[in-house]
Amino acid sequence: MCGIVGYVGHRQALEVVMGGLRRLEYRGYDSGGVALVPSGDTAGTTAWAKKAGKLVNLGGVLETADLPEASTGIGHTRWATHGAPNDRNAHPHLDATERVAVVHNGIIENFAVLRTELEADGVEMRSETDTEVVAHLVAAELNRTPDLTEAVRLVCRRLEGAFTLVISDAQQPGVVVGARRNSPLVVGRGEGENFLGSDVAAFIDYTREAVELGQDQVVTITADDIVVIGFDGAPAETRTFHVDWDVSAADKAGYDWFMLKEINEQPKAVADTLLGRHSVDGLLQLDEMRLSDDELREVDKIIIIAAGTSMYAALVAKYAIEHWTRVACEVELASEFRYRDPILDRGTLVVTISQSGETMDTLMAIRYARQQRARVLSICNTNGSTIPRESDAVIYTHAGPEVAVASTKGFLTQVVACYLLALYIAQAKGTKYGDEIASILAELHQIPQGIQRLLDESDQMRKLAADLVGSRSILFLGRHVGYPVALEGALKLKELAYIHAEGFAAGELKHGPIALIEEGLPVFVIVPPKGRDQLQDKTISSIQEIRARGARTICLVEDGDDDVVPFADHIIRLPRVPTLMQPLVATVPLQIFACEFAELLGNDVDQPRNLAKSVTVE
Ligand code: G6P
Repeated sequence: MCGIVGYVGHRQALEVVMGGLRRLEYRGYDSGGVALVPSGDTAGTTAWAKKAGKLVNLGGVLETADLPEASTGIGHTRWATHGAPNDRNAHPHLDATERVAVVHNGIIENFAVLRTELEADGVEMRSETDTEVVAHLVAAELNRTPDLTEAVRLVCRRLEGAFTLVISDAQQPGVVVGARRNSPLVVGRGEGENFLGSDVAAFIDYTREAVELGQDQVVTITADDIVVIGFDGAPAETRTFHVDWDVSAADKAGYDWFMLKEINEQPKAVADTLLGRHSVDGLLQLDEMRLSDDELREVDKIIIIAAGTSMYAALVAKYAIEHWTRVACEVELASEFRYRDPILDRGTLVVTISQSGETMDTLMAIRYARQQRARVLSICNTNGSTIPRESDAVIYTHAGPEVAVASTKGFLTQVVACYLLALYIAQAKGTKYGDEIASILAELHQIPQGIQRLLDESDQMRKLAADLVGSRSILFLGRHVGYPVALEGALKLKELAYIHAEGFAAGELKHGPIALIEEGLPVFVIVPPKGRDQLQDKTISSIQEIRARGARTICLVEDGDDDVVPFADHIIRLPRVPTLMQPLVATVPLQIFACEFAELLGNDVDQPRNLAKSVTVE
C-alpha cells in the first residue's frame, strides 16, 4: 500500500522520484503525486503535481506542468483510506503557503481532533485526508523553529496511529525528513545523494546500500548525510544492509506480467530457499536462527500467524510440522489472533509468515505475542523489513523480489522454509533421525525439477483457461495438504479474475458446498497420492458425487495414477512426489490457470483492482 520516495542529491529529483514510484507501483495504488524543492531563482515555493489514477495520468500532468528543475523531491502513490481516490486527496498535501509538502502512508488515528483544532485556528482544509493535518502542523512548528527535523519530530509526538511521513520544506532545498511509526520506510545510501523509500525497490536503480529505520524514528537526509534520531530527540542506532537483489530482478525480463515471470522463477526460488542449509557434518543449519537447540527443545506448541496467501502456506506447513516434530501446531489469521485472548507462554513458538515483512495485521500480532512472552520466529522474504526486525529469529526465503500483487513464488518458498523449520525442530528434539531428515531434504531438492516440468507444460493450462473463461463460478476441492492448495487456487482466481471461486475440504462437500453444484460448473480437484489413509478413495467418491450432479471435473493427479481417469473430464498430471510435498507442485498449474484466465478477461494481472501487495494498515 502507498509507495513513498524521497530524494536529495545531484540528479534531477523528478526523474529519480518518478522512477522510484514506478518501481513501487506493485504495492497497489489509485493516485500519484510529486513535490519538488527548487533552489536558485525559483526557490521558496514547492512545485508539485498530483493526479488520480495510474502514474501515466500523473505523467500527462507533468508534461504540461513544466515544473522547475530541482535536486530535492518527494513522491507518493496513494492507496485510499480516508477520502475518495481523486485528485484533491492525492498526495502530496501542502500547508496554506505551500511551503511544506507531506506524503504519508498509514492512518493517523487522531486526525479528527487535530483537524478540529487547526480549523479553530482558521486553517482551511483542502482535502478529506487524515494526512493534510500534518502539513499544517509542521508549517506551524516551522514558525517557531527553523529546523525541519525538529518540527517533524514535535509533530510526530502528537500523532497517533501508523505512519510513514516524508516531508520537504520549500525554504530548505537539499533536505528531506522522514519519520516512521508502524509503517515501512528504508533509507538508501548513495554517493553524494541519499534516498528514502517505502522499500528498497524505490532506489534499487541507484544504490544497494540501505539503512534500516527503527520504530518511532526521524531521519534527515541531505546529499552527503543521513542522521537518525528517536521521537524523543536522542540519537538512534541504525543498521546498514546490502540489498542482494539486482536491478534486473525488478524487471519483467520479457514476460508480459511480473506474475508470469515470478511463476517461472519458482524452480530457482525454491532451490535458493534450500541453498546452503547443511553444515559439513550433514546437519541442517539455519543461519538466521537465533534460538538455541535448548530453547527449541522447550517448545511444546507452535502457532503460525499470517495473512492471505501466507496463511495458506501456514495451513500446508501445519501437516508437516505436526508429523515431523510431534508438536501441536495451530494456524491463525493475523487479523484475528490478538482479539481472541490466545494462550501463550515461553513454551509457545509463534511463527509468522510474511512475504513483505510489513503486513500490519501480522506485525501487530507478533507484538502481542512478544508481550505475552512467547518466542517469535518469522519467515520472510524481505531483508530490512519490520517483522523480522522485531522477531527473535528469522528464516529468509531468498525468493528475490516479488512484484505481482498475487503471491506465487512467495507461497512456495514459504512452504519450503516452514518445512526446513519443522525439520530443524525435529533435529533439535530428536523426533527424526538424521538419515530421515537427509532423505526428506533430498526429496525437497527434487522439487524444482518437478515445478520446471509443470512450467514446460503450461500450454495445457492456457488452453483450459480459454475453455473456461466464460465461467462465473469455479470451485476447488482438496483433502489433507490438498485442502490449502484448493484454498490458494481459489484465492488466486478471486484476486485476478474477480469471479466467484471457493476452495473446500472435499470431506465437507456433503455438509453444504454440494448445494452449489450445477450443470457444467467447473470443479478443480487436487487428488491425493495413493496409499495414504485411503484419502484418494474418499476423494474419488467426492468426485463421483459432484459429477453425478453435473459438475465438470478437472483433476490434478500424479503421474501413472489412472484410478481417477474414468471420473475426470480433464486430467492435469503432476510429478510423483511424497504426499507432504504435493502442494509444492500442485499449486503451480493453478497459478498459471488464474494468470491466463485473468489475462483473457483483459484484467491487470499484476495489479488487480482494490488490492495492495503489502497491506500496511489494519
Ligand atoms: C496482501 C497481498 C497478498 C498477501 C498478503 C499477505 O493481501 O495481496 O498477496 O498474501 O497481503 O502478505 P505478506 O507480505 O504478509 O505475506
